[in-house]
Amino acid sequence: MRGLVTLWVAAPLLVAMAVTVSHAGESNGATELPERHHPVDVVLPEGMILPEGWPLSDKNTLTCASCHGLDDIDQPDTWADLDKRDPRFLHDGPYRRQEQFCFRCHDDTGYQRWNLHRQKLDNGKLDERSCSYCHLEQPQQIKGEVPQKTDLRLPPAVLCLGCHLKTPHLNSLEHAGAPSEKVLDRLQAHNRSARRPLPLDEQQHVTCVTCHDPHQPGVIEKLSADQEVWLGESDVETGSVYVSSRWSPVYEADKAERLADLQQHSDWPLALRYRRLEQEVLLRLPAKDGTLCNACHQFED
Ligand code: HEC
Ligand code: HEC
Ligand code: HEC
Ligand code: HEC
Ligand code: HEC
Ligand code: HEC
Repeated sequence: MRGLVTLWVAAPLLVAMAVTVSHAGESNGATELPERHHPVDVVLPEGMILPEGWPLSDKNTLTCASCHGLDDIDQPDTWADLDKRDPRFLHDGPYRRQEQFCFRCHDDTGYQRWNLHRQKLDNGKLDERSCSYCHLEQPQQIKGEVPQKTDLRLPPAVLCLGCHLKTPHLNSLEHAGAPSEKVLDRLQAHNRSARRPLPLDEQQHVTCVTCHDPHQPGVIEKLSADQEVWLGESDVETGSVYVSSRWSPVYEADKAERLADLQQHSDWPLALRYRRLEQEVLLRLPAKDGTLCNACHQFED
């Protein structure tokens, strides 16, 4: 299963606490806990289970030690020199994203992002809610006919933003725009071939859906039996899967100097690894074997 991703819009409480708490630590010599610090002496609601080794008070309520592993955390004179990166500051810490810590105790249902690429319901029907998120109405597909009512609510160039960044991965920004003549020639030749075409947007720009097919495999019906529809191993539940690669050390060495520069501007230890794509999802053509890239580029090795 994929890791959980928090929907920040639905979690104002979490954000409020995260923000206020992280400010308070900046003033030296603090002797008071931040106003919005987590309550203590509260009883566990039914169903909440604390991870092993996170103690409760002898009255079975929440105490400082339920969350913090530093013995003297309740001594205000220690607060000025707290090291929040200390693995004991928060049990099993440090946490890159504070919600990950919160969800060790709190239930995360209701805070998960809706994966609108999961379009086939358990009863075999298509999820209309998903279709009409992007389309004005659920498109009608009749065997052998060009699909009707596929109008989109937004231009393709902005359809994915909000849920995804403009930069979900390396090189996505470099690709958004008008192709050079060289690339365009190659792309047009590809689009005239029998292979699955890669559409540009209405301004003839490369955009997310040029490479990606946002539909779960099986949603778009073939017009004819010989039409190519790339299904691949596309599994929208699991998402893309990467595995370690023996080229990683080469890649790391190449980037080491630039990463060291960047590190000076970051509190978090930065690491960079090259990993090989093992399972791809939501692509129009397979990328693993180079087919996708080759439709527009001719790389010499
Ligand atoms: C439910 C979990 C929880 C409990 C219980 C808890 N804390 Fe915290 N505490 C946190 C979190 C989360 C932070 C913020 C961590 C961060 O800013 O990275 C924090 C921050 C702190 C800080 C640093 C504040 C700052 O930003 O400078 C101190 C000091 C602290 N807690 C002391 C205590 C004391 C004393 C108690 C008991 C009275 C206590 N905590 C109980 C979760 C908890
Ligand atoms: C060690 C377990 C534990 C952790 C970790 C934890 N909580 Fe809690 N939290 C509780 C308990 C127990 C309560 C009291 C029962 C309830 O209201 O659910 C509570 C209550 C709350 C409340 C309701 C407070 C109120 O005044 O009604 C909020 C908001 C909250 N937690 C947010 C957070 C956030 C944000 C984090 C992460 C920074 C967090 N919790 C981490 C155990 C935890
Ligand atoms: C994330 C946005 C998004 C969602 C959700 C979505 N679509 Fe689409 N759909 C598109 C885009 C963009 C296109 C045009 C590009 C293309 O052909 O894929 C499209 C095109 C289509 C087409 C025409 C394909 C063709 O080859 O002519 C059909 C049919 C379609 N969608 C059906 C559906 C159905 C049914 C659902 C719900 C189960 C759905 N879509 C959900 C974005 C979406
Ligand atoms: C309503 C929000 C939403 C919109 C709009 C949306 N997506 Fe997604 N997308 C998700 C969620 C949720 C996932 C599951 C992975 C995650 O939680 O990040 C996902 C996963 C993906 C993945 C696979 C990543 C993985 O590893 O699972 C791709 C590729 C992708 N989306 C492309 C697109 C494209 C292209 C568009 C626009 C046509 C689009 N998405 C529109 C929410 C959205
Ligand atoms: C030039 C082709 C191309 C373009 C343009 C492109 N992507 Fe991708 N994208 C890929 C490939 C290849 C992968 C890795 C294989 C896969 O989808 O599983 C990928 C992966 C992803 C993932 C999964 C990230 C992960 O960590 O696995 C998301 C999310 C995504 N793309 C969203 C987008 C969005 C949003 C845009 C537009 C802003 C976009 N992509 C533009 C080719 C492209
Ligand atoms: C739909 C066409 C298309 C596809 C598919 C595509 N690219 Fe590109 N690529 C472009 C465009 C457009 C540019 C911007 C430069 C240009 O127009 O020549 C670009 C630029 C690049 C660059 C920057 C260096 C340069 O040549 O200017 C790299 C690296 C690159 N692409 C790699 C890839 C890889 C790897 C893949 C496969 C995952 C891929 N591309 C798939 C269209 C495409």
